[in-house]
Amino acid sequence: ADFQAIVLDEVDSTNSEAERRIANGDPTPFVVASRLQTQGRGRLGRVWHSPQNGNLYASFAFRPQVSPSQISLFTLWMGINICECINSICRTSCQIKWPNDLHVEGKKVAGILTEARMEADLVLNVVLGIGLNVNSDASTWPDELKSIATSLNQVAGETFDINKLVSTLTGRIAIAYRKLLDGSHKAELKERWARYDSLLGKNVALLQGDQRISGIASGIDSSGSLIIERADGSRYLARAGEVTIEKQ
Ligand code: BTN
Repeated sequence: ADFQAIVLDEVDSTNSEAERRIANGDPTPFVVASRLQTQGRGRLGRVWHSPQNGNLYASFAFRPQVSPSQISLFTLWMGINICECINSICRTSCQIKWPNDLHVEGKKVAGILTEARMEADLVLNVVLGIGLNVNSDASTWPDELKSIATSLNQVAGETFDINKLVSTLTGRIAIAYRKLLDGSHKAELKERWARYDSLLGKNVALLQGDQRISGIASGIDSSGSLIIERADGSRYLARAGEVTIEKQ
């Protein structure tokens, strides 16, 4: 399936724009990218600061034949493909932090926000939004941001063409989507994940509400849950939550 590409100068949120187009009956798959967002959204209701300074804001829209319970796996699979794509274009060593942050040199360079909705005909539509810091000058950022986030420009010392990045990413996502539909992603996910897993073997703490689960992160299982090996020898499978790396 070829993706139709829509490139805008300004939008509230590319995820919202994709959702409106889906509601309008537009055929999928398609991708909406914008040079700036006035109401960029992050996970957990956070704001995704989206100035017009050469970052990438794009949302991919699908009507995949998957059940709602497979959405997290869908996101992990797309995340690992996006991570590999960035590494091959930018020669970075991007890693993925479960469930869907991309990190370079221990700092966040991109975030993914997947939103799914069931249509009246029981077809699930999925919008996968990616915000990637590309050419923004990290040296002008506030200190609290500088210590946790970075941009491709900052790590690679180069300026990248955003439209080219969007089109290369779209090509990769199209291949990944085909593999997802024919089921061949199942055989590849765990091994590819392990290659770029920033948490693997690290002491982590998972926060779920007021619960705190700590142990050694040991990859993902076939449903995409994070495996945490606890000190008492038991295994905890995390389906959702925020993970932090503890002192090693
Ligand atoms: C996160 O790490 O919290 C996810 C951030 C996702 C941001 C992207 S930018 C393009 C798309 N449109 C949005 O409003 N959000 C996503």
